[in-house]
Amino acid sequence: MHDKVSLLRQQFQADFSKIAQAKDVEEIKVKYLGKKGPIQELMQDLRTVSADERPLMGKLINDLKVEITHLCEKGLEGLGAAEEAKRIEEEKIDVTLPGRTQFVGKKHPVNLLLDEVLSIFKGMGFSVHYGPDIDSDYYNYEGLNFPKDHPARDMQDTFYITPDMLLRSHTSNTQLRIMEAHKPPLRVVMPGTVYRNEDISARSHVFFHQVEGMYIDKHVSFADLFATMHEFWSKLFKTDVVTRFRPSYFPFVEPGLEVDIKCTTCGGSGCRLCKHTGWLEVVGAGMIHPEVLKNGGIDPEVYSGFAWGFGMERLALLLYGITDIRAFTQNDLKLLQQF
Ligand code: PHE
Repeated sequence: MHDKVSLLRQQFQADFSKIAQAKDVEEIKVKYLGKKGPIQELMQDLRTVSADERPLMGKLINDLKVEITHLCEKGLEGLGAAEEAKRIEEEKIDVTLPGRTQFVGKKHPVNLLLDEVLSIFKGMGFSVHYGPDIDSDYYNYEGLNFPKDHPARDMQDTFYITPDMLLRSHTSNTQLRIMEAHKPPLRVVMPGTVYRNEDISARSHVFFHQVEGMYIDKHVSFADLFATMHEFWSKLFKTDVVTRFRPSYFPFVEPGLEVDIKCTTCGGSGCRLCKHTGWLEVVGAGMIHPEVLKNGGIDPEVYSGFAWGFGMERLALLLYGITDIRAFTQNDLKLLQQF
């Protein structure tokens, strides 16, 4: 019996020397002190020991039990504290680290420019109206003096939905709708998306945005058109721009013209931006054709007016110095975040 107790002590000491974590201590404790463990077994064996030896043997076994219990408790304490310290160390956060940036959405550069354009026209007494993107052939062409087989229809390759319905090829589709719904005097700008069946390249896209304008009143003349254009472009470029008017052709205006402004980058001496011409082509315009006024229910003997239309992307390219119109639809954050 005496030897058995010493052997058990040695075994326990060997096991105990190998513990690494609190979990191991729990295991050893169960292994040695558990109901089916060796200590309990020795207690059972006590019955076979002679009555005079029994108290001494009992004390020996009990001492070992107390020793194991005590060591396990101390082991648990020490390891538990070490593990707790390790856990805290691992969970530590560096409160001095900079926070993560939250990205805030921004307006698209074309929309930013549109806001500016509209605010200038509003300041000049124009109101803003929106026409439909899907429209009939009548509002886009026929009513604007493009007869069915008029060659001018070939000027714009059109997305037809049915023989009579189409995606508007210009914001001029809104002109007649405004004339039908309102009486002159009319001063309106009509921004919107337009669609053309063109090859996508650095200079053209299948959809882009235009700002149409229209001014109808008694005695409206060419001089009003010139003054309006000069005023608008000067405000937009924040300088007194020099304008140039060249004759051009659009079926719904007579006479029709193209407005150029002297290149704001080189001052007219020629640079990459103006393709070394000294001028920037910015807008198509003209006096509204009497037939179009009639179609809109306005008497051309009493009223006259002018209209214009320009592309927003082209303008954004000029103002922002971007060289490829596709950049506006590619969602490249490196570009978009600059605005
Ligand atoms: N609608 C013409 C275009 O898309 C522009 C324009 C509008 C010209 C109004 C004259 C008057 O090119």
